[in-house]
Order: sequence, then structure tokens, then C-alpha cells
Amino acid sequence: MVISTAATDSDENSYSTFASRYVRTALPRFKMPGNSMPKDAAYQVINDELMLDGNPRLNLASFVTTWMEPECNDLIMASINKNYVDMDEYPVTTELQNRCVNIIAHLFNAPVGEKETAVGVGTVGSSEAIMLAGLAFKRKWQNKRKAEGKPYDKPNIVTGANVQVCWEKFARYFEVELKEVKLTEGYYVMDPVKAVEMVDENTICVAAILGSTLTGEFEDVKLLNDLLSKKNKETGWNTPIHVDAASGGFIAPFIWPDLEWDFRLPLVKSINVSGHKYGLVYAGVGWVVWRTKEDLPDELIFHINYLGSDQPTFTLNFSKGSSQIIAQYYQFIRLGFEGYKRIMENCLENARVLREGLEKTGRFDIVSKEKGVPLVAFSLKDSSKHTVFEIAESLRRFGWIIPAYTMPANAQHIAVLRVVVREDFNRSLAERLVSHIEQVLKETDSLPSRVAVQASHVVAVDETEDNMDDQKTVKKSSREIQEKVTLYWRRFVSDKRTGAC
Ligand SMILES: Cc1ncc(COP(=O)(O)O)c(C=O)c1O
Repeated sequence: MVISTAATDSDENSYSTFASRYVRTALPRFKMPGNSMPKDAAYQVINDELMLDGNPRLNLASFVTTWMEPECNDLIMASINKNYVDMDEYPVTTELQNRCVNIIAHLFNAPVGEKETAVGVGTVGSSEAIMLAGLAFKRKWQNKRKAEGKPYDKPNIVTGANVQVCWEKFARYFEVELKEVKLTEGYYVMDPVKAVEMVDENTICVAAILGSTLTGEFEDVKLLNDLLSKKNKETGWNTPIHVDAASGGFIAPFIWPDLEWDFRLPLVKSINVSGHKYGLVYAGVGWVVWRTKEDLPDELIFHINYLGSDQPTFTLNFSKGSSQIIAQYYQFIRLGFEGYKRIMENCLENARVLREGLEKTGRFDIVSKEKGVPLVAFSLKDSSKHTVFEIAESLRRFGWIIPAYTMPANAQHIAVLRVVVREDFNRSLAERLVSHIEQVLKETDSLPSRVAVQASHVVAVDETEDNMDDQKTVKKSSREIQEKVTLYWRRFVSDKRTGAC
């Protein structure tokens, strides 16, 4: 409903926005306003409120691209009004998505001929890609079980406990049990030996991560493939592998081309990658590619007759923007293999500078590995007085957005900070960040310990709430107290299980 501008507005229109009544009244939060407002006033008040958001370039919590070349920004704006799903109307856009799928499939060594079309689709991000890949595995497994006359109502997926939350979403939404290999202190990725032990006849696939969200570390897909092949031979189950290469898919092929993690391994049937992470496109694009046509059950593909033509689709949503797909194709042809390689080398080099700067302080243990996604995850050597959560909080003062989080089971007593090094995070920013961290360490050292206060609170709460009935005195180990303090902190910081992405 649009109601025309009130008569009194015409006088207001001749004033500067800041001399008008629009900056004096609170903006509506629940109901649409009865009257219109001038476009420049609407722009100004929204733009001003958005100033309170963080600066995306300083948001080191996110893998997602925050800078693209102005020429690509122009292409994005020129296609902002194109609905991707209108394939008949925008055939060139559809063709660009197909070219991107082919390029990615070749990058991941899919067994397709030079001029053969690969099997895959553009998605909103890796989460949608993972839902689609998971559905394909579930349906294939169900079909096989039905044909064998066996029950098909208890599918499961084996993953590490370090999987990103989208796997939990997939499991819950599509009724698949998630069997997680627990982590241990010092080993923060899925152990292939334990994963294969957990595989049973109801396992639809094992999901390995190329670039753990928590530490950037690559899981050993080759070892997983070898162990699973052996188990498949012994059992006849034929359990396949999916690789969640959300971040690593656009790093490993350029930096470690000999690392075997992709379709070179026979059990790898599908791979997802986020175009909007190291694919170097703004938020809103991901990809999933299947090894062959046979790995994507035909009954999942919808053939819709839309506006006059047959369109095969396999996505969860219908309408979406075209810009990100066009931007992905721009990056592929603009940068080429050489350009991606140089950018990834720079990211790894800047991550090294940051890592060495942090090591020099003598205060941190580096948890991330050099071979992996360019990020630095680090924990405090001594968190008996101050925690990584306090450091994250203090760094916000300088504008840095750096997440602090605890590891998943069974390493939840380890709390880390994580800095993702993206294309637009250069060496001088890395050096500045180190000096700000040093400053924050100095300042927190001079403050009274909040851990001690919280620990005494935790113990006091424990004694009054849980244990006073028994009139027992409770003595807690420092690790127990640390775990409780960490939990206590998590009530104050965003309680995201895997930090930001
Ligand atoms: C390993 C992994 N998988 C999946 C996702 C989800 O990706 P997206 O944000 O593209 O949906 C992330 C995000 O960080 C991730 O790190």
C-alpha cells in the first residue's frame, strides 16, 4: 500500500534532509508507515543507521568476499534486475552458469572430456550445494536398499564433529542421522580411521572437509578413500565420499595441485565449493559438481515447462539473482589460473606474517596448519586470568571483528580466536593487527582478572544451586573451571557453534 505524500511534505522537500522532520521521528520498526517520505530522506536515514554495522573489510570472521574490481561491480549492477530462473529469457546467463560448472569440474579433475558438459549447478552458497549433494546420496542409497528388499528408513552420514552447521541443518531437515567423529585435543579434524569404523550399511556417504571452518586444516581425503575402498570390498556396501571444499576448493588446485582430494579419488562422487569464499565473488553463490550423470538420480531433477521451454532444475529455491553467476564467470576469465594462484599465494603469505607476529608475542599457541585455508587460529597459552573472548571484545575498539569460539566435542575446553585472511587483507593490515593485539594484551594484563571473578561466580552458583542440598564442599579442577568460565562467556558472545563463516 502506498499513500501519497502529505501536503506538508512539499515544504519539507526544499530543506536539507537534516533540517526535515524525517530525522526527528523514530523509524518504523513494526508497521508500515501510513505516508510516504522523499527518496533522499529514505536513503539518508537508512544509510546512516547502517553506519553502525561493522566494516566488512575489517570483518576477519568471514571467508566471504568483501572486495571486487569496479568493472565487476558494474557487471553486477547491470544484471541486478535479472531473475536467474528465467532461463528462456536470459539464455546467455544460463550459458555462463554452465561454463562455470564446466570450469570447476575440470579444476576438480572430473572425468569429463575436453568438450563434454559437466554435471553440476550454481547455488546460493555451499549450504544449498550440500543439501543437494546430501539429497542425491540419500536417494541413491534408498533406491539401492529398496532394490535389495532391505529397510531404508535409517540413513546416516559420517562426518567429523568439526563440520559446519549446514551439515546439521541437512541432517535435521532431511531426516538423516549425523554420526560425528569426535575431536581430541591437538587434533581438530575428522580422523579417517575412526570415520571408516563408524560406517555401516545405512551410511549414505562420508563427508570430508577440505578446509575445516574452525582451523582451515585439510582432512586427509586420500587416506579416507583408501580405507573406505578396503571396507567397501570387504562388506560390499559401496559407501561413497562427498568433499565439502567450501573454502579449500579454490585454494588446493592452485597451490597444491598434487594433493589428491578430488575426483582423482574414485569414491569421491560430489564436491561443493563456495564461489563467494575463495571463488572471489560477493555473497550469494556456491557450486556443486557430481562426478558423472549416474551420481545424480534423475528423479531429483525437475523438468518444468516455464514460459515456453523445458528447463531441467535441481535447486531448493526457484527465483534468485543472476549477478553472482555473471561475477563468477568474470573472475574465471579475468584472473585465469595464474591470477587465482597469485592471489592465493598472497593470502598464504599474509597469513604467515600474521602467524609469525602472533608467535613472537610468546602468548599464543597456533592451532591452524600452514597447509590449508589461509587463516590463523590461535589460543592463549595461559587463560587463567584472561580469555580469548576478552581479546576479541577489546579488538572491536579498533574496528577488527575477530571471532572467539570453543572447539566442538571432545575438545570444547579449547577456546580460539580465528583470523581469516582474504584477498583484500594485505601485509600492512596484518602488521597493524599484530600491533593492536599486542596493545590489547598489555591492557588486559593490567586489568583485574575477569576469569577469577567468573570462576568464583561459577563455583558459587554450583554450590548454591546444585550441591548445597548435599551440604558437600565442591573442589573443581582448573580445567573444569575453565570449561565453566568458557560456557559463561558464551552467554555473552554470540553462541554460534562454529564461529562465523
Ligand atoms: C567447510 C564449510 N562448509 C560449508 C559452509 C557453508 O557455506 P556457505 O556460507 O557458502 O553456505 C562453510 C562456511 O563457512 C564452511 O566453512
